[in-house]
Amino acid sequence: MLVTPEYNGGYPGVLKNALDHVFAEWVDKAVGFVSYGVNGGARAVAQLRGVCSTLGMADVGYQVTISVLTDFEHDATFVPGDRNTDALHKTLDQVIAWTTALAPLRATAETTLVNS
Ligand SMILES: Cc1cc2nc3c(=O)[nH]c(=O)nc-3n(C[C@H](O)[C@H](O)[C@H](O)COP(=O)(O)O)c2cc1C
Repeated sequence: MLVTPEYNGGYPGVLKNALDHVFAEWVDKAVGFVSYGVNGGARAVAQLRGVCSTLGMADVGYQVTISVLTDFEHDATFVPGDRNTDALHKTLDQVIAWTTALAPLRATAETTLVNS
């Protein structure tokens, strides 16, 4: 799972740097997203989907978007509503299912690496 804030319609450069730096470790793994911001951060996730796809990841369709305006009490305490918990369960379920399905591919890649 990747968690990101949204700044000016995008995700932070440090996250891109981390994704680029780790590089090979992402291949054939599933990824889900949690974003937050005044508008929930959906645009940051839209950008991340393309990058994760290029890195060989399978991005699941469900995502969690948290509004810093409406999902926090007194601007401090996160109070997840049904919308948040439902989205989280669906996202995690799909990440687990897809990463399990991709396990044989990762095993093949490891074998290839060891034998090369
Ligand atoms: C300069 C600036 C630009 C922002 N742009 C967005 C935005 O495009 N979309 C959004 O949902 N929230 C936006 N926000 C709100 C941030 O996502 C929010 O403050 C969030 O808590 C920042 O996360 P962080 O404190 O973990 O860095 C912006 C905040 C700032 C200060």
